[in-house]
Order: sequence, then C-alpha cells, then structure tokens
Amino acid sequence: MANTNDPDIVALGETAIPDGLALVEEAGWNQVADDWRLMIGHGHTVGCRDESGRFIASGLAMPYGERIGWISMVLVNGAWRRRGIATRIVEHCADWLEARGITPVLDATPAGAAVYRPMGFETITGMTRWHRPAGAVPMPETVRPATPQDMPAIAMTDAEVFGGARRFLLQDLLSRPGAVAMVAKAPKCGFALSRKGRVATQIGPILAQDSATATALLDGMLNVLDGPVLIDAFDRQDAFIEHLEALGFTRQRPFERMARGPHKDFGMAGRSFAAAGPELG
Ligand SMILES: CC(C)(COP(=O)(O)OP(=O)(O)OC[C@H]1O[C@@H](n2cnc3c(N)ncnc32)[C@H](O)[C@@H]1OP(=O)(O)O)[C@@H](O)C(=O)NCCC(=O)NCCS
Repeated sequence: MANTNDPDIVALGETAIPDGLALVEEAGWNQVADDWRLMIGHGHTVGCRDESGRFIASGLAMPYGERIGWISMVLVNGAWRRRGIATRIVEHCADWLEARGITPVLDATPAGAAVYRPMGFETITGMTRWHRPAGAVPMPETVRPATPQDMPAIAMTDAEVFGGARRFLLQDLLSRPGAVAMVAKAPKCGFALSRKGRVATQIGPILAQDSATATALLDGMLNVLDGPVLIDAFDRQDAFIEHLEALGFTRQRPFERMARGPHKDFGMAGRSFAAAGPELG
C-alpha cells in the first residue's frame, strides 16, 4: 500500500540513461546505453527518484503491435526494495498496455516472478540463460551472414514466429556497429541476431523452421563472434539445449515467460529457439 513517503512514479527519458546503467550494473545485468535508448525511444518508460533526483527504480512497457507488449527493465535499487515499488511500477506499465487493449508479457527472474504472480501474471513457458566463454566453431554450409537486404524476410519470419510487431527492434539490432547476424541460406527458414552487452554478447533471437537450422544458425554466429556469449534458450527445445551443452555452454539462471490477459497464446513456440533477451522478448 502506497504511503506519503513512497516516491512517485514519473516518466523516464534519455537523460536518465546513466542512472539506468547504474541500476543495470548493480543487478549484474547486460544492457548497454544503446539498449536503454532503443527501449526509451519505443516504449513508455517510468521510474522513481530519490531526494537527490537520482532514479532508484525503473520499468517500461513496449507495445509490439496491437495484441502484445513487453514489460521490462524492472529494477529497484537494493536500498529501496520490499517497499512495493516494483509492484507499483509493473501495475502502472501493465495498466498502460491494457488501456490500449494490449496483453502485457514479460520474462521474469525468480525474484520478479514472486512480484508478478500475485498481480495475475501466469507462466507461459520457461527459458534459461546460458553462457559460453570465447571459442570459434566451424561455419556450417547451410547459413550465411545477414545483410540489410535480408531485413524484409527477417521481419516477416519474426512477425509470424515471435508473434508481435517489432521490426523497429530487429532493424536497430541489425544496424548497430559491428552487428553479427545470420540467415539460413534456404529463403525464410530462419535467422539469428546478436548485440554487444555490458558483460557478454547476447545471441538472439534465433527463430528457425527446425532445430537443425537453429543449431546451424548458432554455430554460424559462434564462428564469427569474438569473446564470451549469452543466450536465452527456450527450455522446451531439447535438441537445441543438447547442442548448447555439447558446445560447452553452462546454465546461468532461469526465467519464466509470464503474461496477464487474453492474448497469451501468441507466436509459434515450436520454431522459437532463443529470445532476443528477457527485456526484449
Ligand atoms: C525483483 C525486484 C524488482 C523487486 O522489487 P521490490 O520493489 O523489492 O518488490 P516489491 O516490494 O514490489 O515486492 C512485492 C512482493 O513481491 C515478493 N518479492 C519481492 N522481492 C522478492 C524476492 N527477492 N524474493 C522473494 N519474493 C520477493 C514479496 O512477496 C513482496 O512482498 P513483501 O515485501 O510484502 O513480502 C528487485 O528485487 C530487483 O530489482 N531485483 C533485481 C532485478 C530483478 O530481478 N528484477 C526483476 C526482473 S523480471
């Protein structure tokens, strides 16, 4: 229950990115300024300030078309936890989406899930963050690096398989300096993107017609990328998970994909192998 000492929820814009990066670092998360910029630019981003004006909490709602939207970057500074701030921020973001007829979806950490479940969010599926130190693997015959000309096919596959409208996001990831992305040589059969992070390069999304294509896309990425990598893989993809283990990936932490409202059944789970990240879906 809010009381007069609770900080207000206020809009958070690009000037708050340094505070946002401090919250990310405190939580040991991977986002960089480009990620905040992307999400602030396309979402409804809010936070709470302390008396000095510094943001000590954040959260945002990002619509992916008219049916689903993502809630993410729910972060509360350690000194401000267990005062109901995350609950108020997520309720604010969920209300903002629901007022537009959009079902809020999020990928929850175990601590986050404990906040969201009493608010009516239900688990749709599980995924796990996997980590791998640097090390190249051979380039498969069936994939090739993506070019800007592949964008229409990538966006079409994503709309069908992910199930939301987020071309702006794919475009952003593909156009970042040094971006590494792969497509299946067979047209419209799958793609993989990546982005540089604070602690490691995040590989994802990987959306593909089958697990053989998904593993080839992953191998193609590892052939080109330098340094340690992270991937948020869907637990139901047994063959893909076996491949991660064979490549030396180790489990870091679990996530629950949760949603509240009518459009929980979006996308094609069978063709979804890795998320773009918990903050992007
Ligand atoms: C998870 C997090 C956002 C919660 O923020 P918060 O403001 O402390 O959460 P709230 O005060 O609204 O918690 C509401 C309820 O959720 C549950 N809850 C919150 N944090 C919890 C935790 N770490 N473990 C178990 N239950 C928890 C409790 O039931 C709590 O009610 P109570 O304090 O009366 O027992 C915060 O701990 C955080 O920033 N963690 C690191 C980043 C993270 O995991 N973010 C979530 C991303 S999905």
